[in-house]
Formats: sequence, structure tokens, C-alpha cells
Amino acid sequence: MRSKILIVDDSMTDRMIINNILSDYQTLMASNGLEAIEQIEKDPDIDLIILDLNMPKMNGFEFLKWLKNESDYSKIVTLILTNYDEMENEILGLELGAVDYIRKPLNIESLKKRIEVHLKLKMAQKKIERYNSILEETVDTRTHELVVTRDVTIHALIGLLEVRNIESSNHTVRTQWMMKRLCEHLSTKEKYSELLTKDYINELFKTAPLHDIGKVGIPDSILLKPGRLTIEEFEIMKKHTTYGVEALSHESDSTEIVPSFIKTAIEIAGTHHERFDGSGYPKGLSGMVIPLPGRLMAIIDVYDALMSKRVYKPAYEFKDTIDMLMKERGKHFDPELLDAFIEIKDQIHDISVIYIQEND
Ligand code: C2E
Ligand code: SIN
Ligand code: SIN
Ligand code: SIN
Ligand code: FE
Ligand code: FE
Repeated sequence: MRSKILIVDDSMTDRMIINNILSDYQTLMASNGLEAIEQIEKDPDIDLIILDLNMPKMNGFEFLKWLKNESDYSKIVTLILTNYDEMENEILGLELGAVDYIRKPLNIESLKKRIEVHLKLKMAQKKIERYNSILEETVDTRTHELVVTRDVTIHALIGLLEVRNIESSNHTVRTQWMMKRLCEHLSTKEKYSELLTKDYINELFKTAPLHDIGKVGIPDSILLKPGRLTIEEFEIMKKHTTYGVEALSHESDSTEIVPSFIKTAIEIAGTHHERFDGSGYPKGLSGMVIPLPGRLMAIIDVYDALMSKRVYKPAYEFKDTIDMLMKERGKHFDPELLDAFIEIKDQIHDISVIYIQEND
């Protein structure tokens, strides 16, 4: 398709000369700004305008001002062709949106070349715009696919715990809502407000149920043992943390970007049994070296374990559970995080009551 060029010039001779030069293009004519507007409104897919400045009725500057405010026609490229020589006029013209300023008398080859260049630029720009909009659509689709993939994967993994009676689905739901509530509460404190964004809280909410995923690697004879574990059995039990990390890691080259929710899940699985005083496992990390997800999960995990009936223990009363947690302030648990947890203990209790049902 040939490009469409509008020639706007009050001198008929000039219009004819320019028209002859541009025989390769489809051309339209106007003898002043007003006529140019009429032409554009009749024919909005004009690609390029060659604009004279000094014209009756509406001059070139006035026309450029009009064009600048018409967003529908913002894609039209304008070249000024004039015998105004002053620099101020050139600057004003370019400021008003013209892409080039050519002085008369005109050099045929130069005019042709410039028009060609500007049309090519315009085509390239169109292509980039089309490409960008396709790219945006693709990214939206991919992002959505990733979110679905993530959720399906997490569900499948949690399902593995449930079929082996390692965790009930209520335990899963409880821990994630407690995690969310605790994080939301923390995010109202200055120290945590920047770190605990809505997205990050959602990520912790989604990945909290995976904290014990490594338990799938522990034999039933230990996992479901009705009584206390021997020291040897407990040593095997402790491995559920590293098993969890291994299950969530993959052995491709380390330069590959690990999705952030996998990283968070790995932190939770790997460090939820570390203790603030360094006496936990598997690594014996202490204090702030323990990643925040692990420090948060430790509190929620023990709270929920104490409140629940386990094969090896009865369920404790809420008050006793809170007392037991407080005794571990600064020992097992990060004192600041525990204080925040205690501040919202009634809301936490509500969550545990809502999700504890007969089958739990
Ligand atoms: P879990 O049942 O989810 O318990 C998580 C954590 O809650 C425990 O981590 C512990 O810190 C705390 N916790 C649970 N019950 C009690 C309790 O009665 N008293 C106190 N003070 N804390 C409690 P821990 O000890 O590292 O255990 C990790 C996992 O090992 C437990 O997860 C459970 O699956 C298993 N486990 C631990 N002890 C026994 C046991 O004596 N018998 C059996 N069958 N499994 C056990
Ligand atoms: C004309 O060419 O029409 C007059 C001079 C000018 O406006 O550039
Ligand atoms: C467990 O998590 O070890 C038992 C199931 C539950 O109490 O939710
Ligand atoms: C909040 O955490 O959302 C503020 C109210 C509260 O302490 O729960
Ligand atoms: Fe655990
Ligand atoms: Fe647990």
C-alpha cells in the first residue's frame, strides 16, 4: 500500500512541484490550515504532511497547534517546508510537533530522501507498537499460566501429605490463615511495613502449608507412632526439613532464576524448626540469620501442634498453649514476632476454632 501524503501550501506552483516529486506516493492537497483539517477529517489515515508555514486563514503554526491536540491524528508525521529562515521558527515548529524543517528553495533529492526516512521511521514505530501489544498479551497469558501452575503444584504437594494422614486439610488451612493474619498485623508496624507487602503476604499464605512437605520422606512407623519417639527415630524425623528443601529444589544450573514462591517455600520448609537461640535443627541457625518465613512458621507450627490432638499427644487448652509459647520467648521464638502473635491471639484463636472440625 502506497503511503498517503498531504501537501499543504498556499502557492499552487509549489504544490504542483512537490506533487510531481512525490509521484511514488498517493498525494492530497490543501492550500491552508483549514483545508488541511478538512482533508484529515475526511481521510484520517494520512501518513505524512508537508506543511508550509506562511499561509492565509490558518497558518502552519496554528495548524500544528490544532494537530497536537488531536490525539486521533497523533500518528501523522509533519515536515515543515518553508522559506522562513529564522531559527526561532524552526524551533517553534519542532516544538509544536513537526519532525523536520526544510528550507526553500527545495532540493528535490533531499526532500525525497527525508520523506522516505520519516515514512520508514513511522513504519518501524508502528511495527514496534504492534509487537509490544502482542508481547503484553503474551506476558499476561504466561503470568496467568504460572499462577495456575503454582497453585496446582502446591495443591498436589499438600495432597501427598493428606493421603498419608500426615496432615489434615484443616491443619493446612489453619496454618495459612494464621500466617496471613500474623503478617497483616506485622505489616501495620513500621519495621515490617515495607517488607511485608500484599504480594509477599500472599506468597507466605500460599506456601505455609508446604512447611512439612518433607514428612512424605519419613516412614509411617515413625510418623504415625502413637508414643514418644526414640532418639534415633527423632534424628530421622528431623530430616523432614532437609527432605522438604530437596523436594522443592531442582538440580538445574544455579544461574536459572528460582521463582520467588519456591524460594519462600524452601525457606519455610528448611528453617521452620530452627530456634531463635540456635538450639534448633537442621542447621542450628540463630537470631535474624533464620529467614523471616522460618521464624514466623515456627510460632504458627508449634501453636497449631499444641492446640491439636496428635498421635503422640492430646490437644492442649488455648490458655496453656499461649503460656507454653510465652515461656519460649527469645528462646525458641523471635521475641518481636511472638509479641505480635500474642497481640492478636484472640483472632488466632478464632481461626483455629473455625477450622477445627470433627474429622480433624
Ligand atoms: P508436629 O507435630 O507438627 O510438631 C511441630 C512442633 O510443635 C514440634 O517440633 C515441637 O516443637 C512442637 N510440639 C509439638 N508437640 C509438642 C508438645 O507436646 N510439647 C511441646 N513443648 N512442643 C510440642 P519437633 O519437636 O521438632 O517435632 C517435629 C515433628 O516430629 C512433629 O511435628 C511430629 O510430626 C514429630 N514428632 C515429634 N515428637 C514426636 C513424638 O513423640 N511422637 C511422634 N509420633 N512424632 C513426634
Ligand atoms: C509560500 O511558499 O507559500 C510562502 C512562503 C512560506 O510560507 O514558506
Ligand atoms: C499433624 O499435623 O501431625 C496431624 C494432623 C493435624 O493435627 O492437623
Ligand atoms: C491489624 O493487624 O490489621 C490491625 C488490627 C490488629 O491488631 O489486628
Ligand atoms: Fe515440621
Ligand atoms: Fe506442622
